This record gives sequence, structure tokens and C-alpha cells, in this order.
Amino acid sequence: MDSPDPITLSRRDVLIAGTATAAVATLPLEAAAQAAAPMPAPGSVPSASVTLEVNGKAHTISLDTRTSLLDTLREHLHLTGTKKGCDHGQCGACTVLLDGVRINSCLTLAVMHSGAKVTTIEGLGTPRNLHPMQAAFVKHDGYQCGYCTPGQICSAVGALDEMRRGVPSHVSADLNARPLLSAEELRERMSGNICRCGAYSNIVDAITEVGGLRT
Ligand code: FES
Ligand code: FES
Repeated sequence: MDSPDPITLSRRDVLIAGTATAAVATLPLEAAAQAAAPMPAPGSVPSASVTLEVNGKAHTISLDTRTSLLDTLREHLHLTGTKKGCDHGQCGACTVLLDGVRINSCLTLAVMHSGAKVTTIEGLGTPRNLHPMQAAFVKHDGYQCGYCTPGQICSAVGALDEMRRGVPSHVSADLNARPLLSAEELRERMSGNICRCGAYSNIVDAITEVGGLRT
């Protein structure tokens, strides 16, 4: 049997043969992937069913998977206490507690947290039975216009919990010691919550009182 003369194979022939081989090898994989994830119809909205426990009440809602937790709370559950300031993670107005930990709700998708427990300002206390942090903000005038206040209060509750659990901040001198409840620590921990009215010193007073340094 005649064997091909290697000298008659040009560089172009070799490249064509290699490309064809690679394409044949990947075809089954691509076909399997397409079968597992059918393409959505053009113009259709990707949606999913999401269950959240918000302020102690379970909600199951069908959402566009691109819906932020903030928009879910405000537009779908009509809990408008949580504010939208920048919608870019820069102001803290949208802070809520997610499984007890503070989070900017504008920066996360609701679909990522199905099954989680969310606490908003409406779930912390009621007008007749204020959460201690809400009462302290009222007592110390920790606000003027009040727009940043729900986020400030949720963030403050989360910050004190972090300190109780010994989570250090960038200004903690000893990373292994329980953080001191100092104004410096509180300013650092609350630095993600902007107050355009500049009520910062009163906010620190309110948090300090709840944290146990003052009565
Ligand atoms: Fe979320 Fe400003 S609205 S950080
Ligand atoms: Fe007005 Fe903070 S009280 S922005």
C-alpha cells in the first residue's frame, strides 16, 4: 500500500486538518450544553420563583432574575422604608439585615438569597414599640431629613453585632481583641452610610448609647 508522501502536505493542509479535528471533538459537548440549557425565546424575561422571609413573614414571588433585593423589597413587597439613594453601593441608604448581617440591598440580586431571612426598618420595631436603636436615634436627633435613617439604623444594629462577635475593622489596634466601642471604631464601621444632612455626631452618640457606654 502506498503511504502519503509527507512532503506533499502543505502547512495549510495541516492547519485545515487540525481545525476540523478540534471542531468534531467539541461538537458533542456543545450539543449537550444546548440541550441542558435551552435558549430563552427572544424578548422573554428570565424569571424565577424566590422565597424570602421578610420581617418574620414568608413571601414566595416570581421575579425577573435581574431584580435587586432592594427593588424586590420596595417594588414587589411594598416595604418602602428601605431607601434607594444611589443604587450603586455608595451611600448605604438601602442597608438591611440579611440573615442578621448588614448588606447593601441594591448590590445583590434577590434570586441569590432564596430561603434567607431579611430584616428591614419596618421589622426592627413599631412606632409604639421602637427598637432600642430607633429610640436612641430619636433621643439624640440622629437625623434631619430622615432619608438615610433607615439604612443608618439597620447598619448600626449590624455594626454593634459585628463588634459583639469580635469582628475587627480597619482601625482596630488589636485584631485578636474584642473591638473597643469608641467613636473612631463607630465612624469607621458606619463609613458606608452617608448622611447628606451631616447628622454624624448625633448618630455616633445614639449608637454609643445602645452599645452600652452611655445611659
Ligand atoms: Fe444602595 Fe446607595 S442605594 S448603597
Ligand atoms: Fe438627611 Fe441623613 S438625615 S441624609
